Amino acid sequence: MTILKKPLRLPCGVTVKNRFFKSAMHEGLGSKTYAPTQAHVSLYHRWAAGGSGVLVTGNVMVDRNHLGEPGNVVIEDERDLAILKKWAAAGSRNGTQLWMQLNHPGKQSPKSINQEPIAPSALAFDGDLGKLFATPRAMTESDIREVQARFITAAVIAKKAGFTGVQIHAAHGYLINQFLSPLHNQRQDSYGGSLENRQRFLLEIYEGMRAALGQDFPISVKLNSSDGALGGFSVADSLNTAQRLSELGVDVIEVSGGTYAAPTMQGEGGYNGEPGKAIFADFALRLSELVDTPVALTGGFRTAESMVEAVSASVSDLVGIARPLVLDPDLPLKVFAGKLQPIKLPRIKTGVQKIDDSAGSMLGIIWYELQMARLAKGHLPRYTKDAAARVILHAVVTHGPAALKRRRA
Ligand SMILES: Cc1cc2nc3c(=O)[nH]c(=O)nc-3n(C[C@H](O)[C@H](O)[C@H](O)COP(=O)(O)O)c2cc1C
Repeated sequence: MTILKKPLRLPCGVTVKNRFFKSAMHEGLGSKTYAPTQAHVSLYHRWAAGGSGVLVTGNVMVDRNHLGEPGNVVIEDERDLAILKKWAAAGSRNGTQLWMQLNHPGKQSPKSINQEPIAPSALAFDGDLGKLFATPRAMTESDIREVQARFITAAVIAKKAGFTGVQIHAAHGYLINQFLSPLHNQRQDSYGGSLENRQRFLLEIYEGMRAALGQDFPISVKLNSSDGALGGFSVADSLNTAQRLSELGVDVIEVSGGTYAAPTMQGEGGYNGEPGKAIFADFALRLSELVDTPVALTGGFRTAESMVEAVSASVSDLVGIARPLVLDPDLPLKVFAGKLQPIKLPRIKTGVQKIDDSAGSMLGIIWYELQMARLAKGHLPRYTKDAAARVILHAVVTHGPAALKRRRA
């Protein structure tokens, strides 16, 4: 296990104390005014005790008119600086890096909370997804400048509050991913068409943040290895984008994959049919061979052996873990002590085919949000056989029927 204890020096000069990288999970704990709450403070206080080198927050939105899901935190200005400071102090104790993930949903903003989404092009989602999301308006150049400025402002406020790094969410089909994808970006201007043009929106955000945050502040990007869609953002596109980010000095590239239409990131593990292994390991290996930038591979790690193997075989520098860290907030410490049992994620299903099919991965997502709320209150996660029914009840009581729309952060 010693390889997982090895500190990692980032290009910006900051050293991460070990190889555990808690990936972003939207907590659903934002207040009615989209401020962080005491629950965020307690949850990250708990995780910072669990031994991870890096904790990435759930996605924080940069515009309150464009939310990804109920319970979002939004940063547009310094109105919530006091509670942000408490969150930052709690999550960065024990020498933990606490990075805020920043996001804009683009057209992946549910119709129930946003009737006027924006996107690179005015293209609606096909099929079932088209019923959940309104047809977006194509962004003007001034919209592009405004959204880019919002990402940079939010990053500056995160730094001021005491977060020790930021992550740009360029994966999972959200706005930046929409710009990268030739399926969703059919612009005729300098932000669409060639791969170079499709990368421009992301790269300008990164460069703006770097200029505002300084050379010695960690900036990470979460990138899809591919969108898993024919004609969409491909493995070749992703490798090229990662290389450009690397040349510009990004500190960590986190590898994920999939969108709402093809939610491969929510897999149960099982790369190449081997349960417990990381889902995007083949891509991460190619990426690690291509760039010197540290890579964090996320999705599907379920055993200590697979974590050790990924780092020892130079597939990944950091082990990205999301759901297992909700089930066991002390997972890194358990791995170090040689006490981690293979993790099996609970299946949150009603058993009613129609509901399970239509609710998709939503039941699971809300179940994890409920468990994060339990962790924040000092309890351990609790799985019961009627978990799916409890999730549905909770969601409807808290957010109304709209809460049952499919979503993925
Ligand atoms: C409840 C929940 C919320 C999530 N929220 C985010 C998010 O805000 N940003 C993000 O990049 N990924 C988000 N994810 C995806 C995870 O970061 C991760 O990519 C995925 O769960 C696979 O990792 P795992 O197999 O270790 O869980 C979320 C996943 C879950 C279960």
